[in-house]
Amino acid sequence: MSRHSVIAGTGSALPPRRVTNAELAEHVDTSHEWIVERTGIEARHIVGDGETTATLATEAARNALDAAGISADKIGLIVLATATPDQTFPASATKVQAALGIDDCIAFDVAAVCTGFLYALSVADNMLKGGMADYALVIGSETFSRILDWEDRTTCVLFGDGAGAIVLKVEEGADKGVLSTRLHADGRHNDLLYVSGGPSTTDTVGKVRMKGKEVFRHAVVNLAAVLNEVLDASGHTPADIDWVVPHQANKRILDATAKKLGLPPERMVVTVDQHANTSAASVPLALDVAIRDGRIQRGDLLVLEAMGGGFTWGAAIIRY
Ligand code: UT7
Repeated sequence: MSRHSVIAGTGSALPPRRVTNAELAEHVDTSHEWIVERTGIEARHIVGDGETTATLATEAARNALDAAGISADKIGLIVLATATPDQTFPASATKVQAALGIDDCIAFDVAAVCTGFLYALSVADNMLKGGMADYALVIGSETFSRILDWEDRTTCVLFGDGAGAIVLKVEEGADKGVLSTRLHADGRHNDLLYVSGGPSTTDTVGKVRMKGKEVFRHAVVNLAAVLNEVLDASGHTPADIDWVVPHQANKRILDATAKKLGLPPERMVVTVDQHANTSAASVPLALDVAIRDGRIQRGDLLVLEAMGGGFTWGAAIIRY
C-alpha cells in the first residue's frame, strides 16, 4: 500500500493588535475607500513587542496539534515557510521545535515568500512519502510588518502578520490526503517584488519593494495555469473542487482566478478582508478559518494555490 500525507489537524495564530485602514490613513496618504476598492482589505493584524515569526508559528503549531489530538513528541519533521525569520540563522523551525519541547526531529525553514507554504507542503509530503517521518508539522508564519516601509503607501497597506499550521500524518490507501503538488519559479522577475537588503548584500534587513500592477498581471496567468496543471495531474476538473484555498493577496486576483477557471466565487475561501496579505501564512490561515467555521468538511476536495516573489508559484490538491 502507498503512503499518503493526510491533514490530521490545523491551527492558526494572529497578533492581538488589529489595525484598520482608517488607522493607516492617519499616517500615510491613503483612504479606506481606495484600499477596499483596489484590494478588498479592511484590516490586518500587526505584531507587538515580543511577538515574532517563531512565537506566532509555535502558537499555530500548538493549535494544530490540539486539533489533531497528537502530542508534540510524535512529530518527526517541521518545515516552516517564512521570508521573515527571527534571525538569519538558526532556522525559525528549530525555535518552534524547542518551544514545543521536541528533543530530536528534522527541522528547517523554506524561503519561497508567498508561495512558501505550498513549497513546504510539497517538501513535507515527499519526505513523508519517502519514509523520513510519519508525522510532520507544516507551518507558514510571517511578520511582514517588520520589513515594510511604513512611508510607502503602495506596499504598507497590503500586508499583515500571522501564522497557520497543519499536522500531516501518514496513512495508507488511495484518494486521501495530498493527491498532487506542482511548484514553479522564474527568477527573471526578481526586480518586480523583492526586499532591498539582506546579509550578503547590505548591512540592513531592507524593506519590501513591489511593482504591484505587473505582479498582478503575472499572478492571474500563473495561478490559473498551475491550478489546471494540478487538476490534470490528479485527474480532476474544476467542477470536482469543493473549495479553493488561495493565497490572499488581493480580492480582485481571487475573483479573476475564479472566473478564468469557471468556478463560482463562493467556492473561494476569502480572508484577505480581515488578514490582508500574510505571505507564507495566508494559505494555512485561510484553511484553518474555513475548517473551524465548518465550511470545509472531511472528504472535501481542496485546491490550495499561491504566487509570490521570485516569482514563485504553486498549487496542491488535497482530499481533506
Ligand atoms: O503576495 C505577492 C503577490 N502580490 C500581489 O499579488 C500584489 C498584486 N498587485 C496588486 O494587488 C495591485 O496591483 C495593487 C493593490 C498593489 C495596486 O492596485 P492597482 O489597481 O494596480 O493600482 P496602481 O498601482 O496602478 O495605482 C493606481 C493609483 C496610482 O496613482 P496614479 O499614478 O494613478 O495617480 C497610485 O499612486 O493609486 C495610487 N496608490 C494609492 N492611492 C491611495 C497606490 N497605493 C495607494 C494607496 N492609497 N495605498
